[in-house]
Amino acid sequence: MGRVVVVSNRVAVPRRGEPAAGGLAVALKDVLKSSGGLWFGWSGETRKDGGPETRRVRAGGIDYATIDLNEQDQKGFYAGYSNGTLWPLFHFRLGLMEYDRKDAEAYRRVNREFAQALLPLLGPQDTVWIHDYQLIPMAAELRALGAKQRIGFFLHIPFPPFAVVSALPDAERLLRDLLAYDLVGVQTKSDLSGLLNCFAEGLGLFPDAMGGVRGEVAGQQRRTQLSAHPIGIDTRGFATLARKAAYGPETQRLLNSMGDRSLIVGAERLDYTKGLPHRMRGFGALLANFPEHLNRVTYLQVAARSRNEVATYRDLKRELDSLAGRINGDYAEFDWTPVRYVARAVARDTLAGFYRAARVGLVTPLRDGMNLVAKEYVAAQDPEDPGVLILSQFAGAAEAMDGALLVNPLDAEAMAVQLDRALKMPLGERKERWEGMMRGLEDQTAMRWAENFLTELEEMPLPEQDMM
Ligand code: G6P
Repeated sequence: MGRVVVVSNRVAVPRRGEPAAGGLAVALKDVLKSSGGLWFGWSGETRKDGGPETRRVRAGGIDYATIDLNEQDQKGFYAGYSNGTLWPLFHFRLGLMEYDRKDAEAYRRVNREFAQALLPLLGPQDTVWIHDYQLIPMAAELRALGAKQRIGFFLHIPFPPFAVVSALPDAERLLRDLLAYDLVGVQTKSDLSGLLNCFAEGLGLFPDAMGGVRGEVAGQQRRTQLSAHPIGIDTRGFATLARKAAYGPETQRLLNSMGDRSLIVGAERLDYTKGLPHRMRGFGALLANFPEHLNRVTYLQVAARSRNEVATYRDLKRELDSLAGRINGDYAEFDWTPVRYVARAVARDTLAGFYRAARVGLVTPLRDGMNLVAKEYVAAQDPEDPGVLILSQFAGAAEAMDGALLVNPLDAEAMAVQLDRALKMPLGERKERWEGMMRGLEDQTAMRWAENFLTELEEMPLPEQDMM
């Protein structure tokens, strides 16, 4: 048996003094540890000139290998093509999508550089697992260099149908790049149908009885299996974290400051896919339409600054600043601030305590691959007095979390109705909804997700055998 080699743009190399990694990183690390594996990706540093040097460290039984990226390439690859083009496209936001051929070339060059740096580190029996939209062409680049290993890909964000993806000038090439993988995994059934639709409409390829497609890559006929693998969290671990954090100084300070008011909580990266302005408007509509909640409820929104080098993210920050200010200006009392808006990251364990303290978890993205905050909010609850999850119908998590109150985030009045319902929901109904969701989360953990994906990948015939 070979090793598992995980590749992602960001690598969670453990650094002294930094907070513990999230559930996804923990699950991947567990897999890597048990296979003596390697995690490869970007170092987080840029270089002015010259070729990349691969830096290797070993920590906690895992090898990490990272490369620096050329400064200009990194800009075009990360702020340009990955986050200015693919991110809005895959989140159905064509109006926000930008395209610059130079960025598309930088994206390709970085993927080639990743492939060139990884290839010498691979053994013939290794299984390579590449993650997310930043690295779609990496397998095609590895194959072009002669890599024969099993290579899998998982897309963490949504996969839209071809009517959307075709807006990308390089759409067909990007879809063809996926054929270099043995297995392509997406989050949900709806993403899988987007992917199948793209292959059918974009490349004229239709799935066989097993759910795979065949096509030509680097002069070879290959078969690519396509499947949905919804990601989970470390449910038990997060529940324990929340239980402990609830007695910690931060949650206690928060609770003391609340008096007997109810808490609504939201937490994410400050990203336009998360529907933060819509959520503020929904909360505003609650105060306007259900005045019995005035001075009885506080909405805490944590929004960690993100991708500041992309203009749309800076614009969003300004919009949110003004919306939060407006709602507070309209409704605050001298002893009550309706919106507490924190535009920076908050430590993971602190957040876990806040989730447990909150009567309502408000998770309303306009589009989201899965959304792990929804799962963490549920895992963090006190089984004797659980809170209510309000979840966007456009989050991947909505496919399985049927105990949540679903909303369309575009409809502020409907969000207000659900908020009112959640705030008034009797304990019996809260427990029933929570217990159902918690059972699902205990079953579908991050670890199970990783094992299922890798088992499916490792059952694929090796590329050479496939040729016979
Ligand atoms: C999403 C993406 C990840 C990405 C993360 C943070 O979850 O799916 O691939 O790493 O956001 O974004 P950043 O641009 O800071 O890596």
